[in-house]
Amino acid sequence: MIRAATLEDVAALARLHAACFVQAWDEKAMRGLMESPGILAFLAPCGFVMARVAADEAEILTLGVELAARRAGRGAALVARAAHDAQASGVRAMFLEVATGNDAARALYRRLGFREAGRRKAYYAASEDALILRADLPLRKSQDLD
Ligand SMILES: CC(C)(COP(=O)(O)OP(=O)(O)OC[C@H]1O[C@@H](n2cnc3c(N)ncnc32)[C@H](O)[C@@H]1OP(=O)(O)O)[C@@H](O)C(=O)NCCC(=O)NCCS
Repeated sequence: MIRAATLEDVAALARLHAACFVQAWDEKAMRGLMESPGILAFLAPCGFVMARVAADEAEILTLGVELAARRAGRGAALVARAAHDAQASGVRAMFLEVATGNDAARALYRRLGFREAGRRKAYYAASEDALILRADLPLRKSQDLD
């Protein structure tokens, strides 16, 4: 169900990003990202994740699942796949930034074992803070967590 994305998929990635975020990354931006070093990108039906690996750390750059397909496990499966492949290339920890008010994403990441590692004040529009979350790899299975 989940497969690695390639340069052939930039249109699909841009379409999914636009469906999930107000500030969409267009095809040109997606192509630039896909051509940059260390990118891991995966597609599921109605969802995607992109991460960047640098040495033994990885950062989740973006994650989204179309509204109609949410709460079916896709988001968690996409993050798990990115973490699995990152770990296979030597990554020991994953990071990401999430808006304090993004309850769905925060719940998902918490389930996967991510914990707060920092905060950027007024990082997003409307002065919303960003939380920096971190998890050691391998991720714990979500059913083992509270
Ligand atoms: C965040 C997002 C990717 C989650 O995708 P998803 O496919 O719905 O997530 P999953 O079905 O894998 O959810 C896994 C777990 O996360 C938690 N979770 C997910 N969405 C939730 C919500 N709306 N409210 C509470 N908990 C939620 C639950 O614990 C869920 O497990 P459960 O359904 O068994 O209770 C999706 O809501 C999305 O695309 N949002 C818009 C884009 C975005 O904010 N991306 C993240 C940027 S950091």
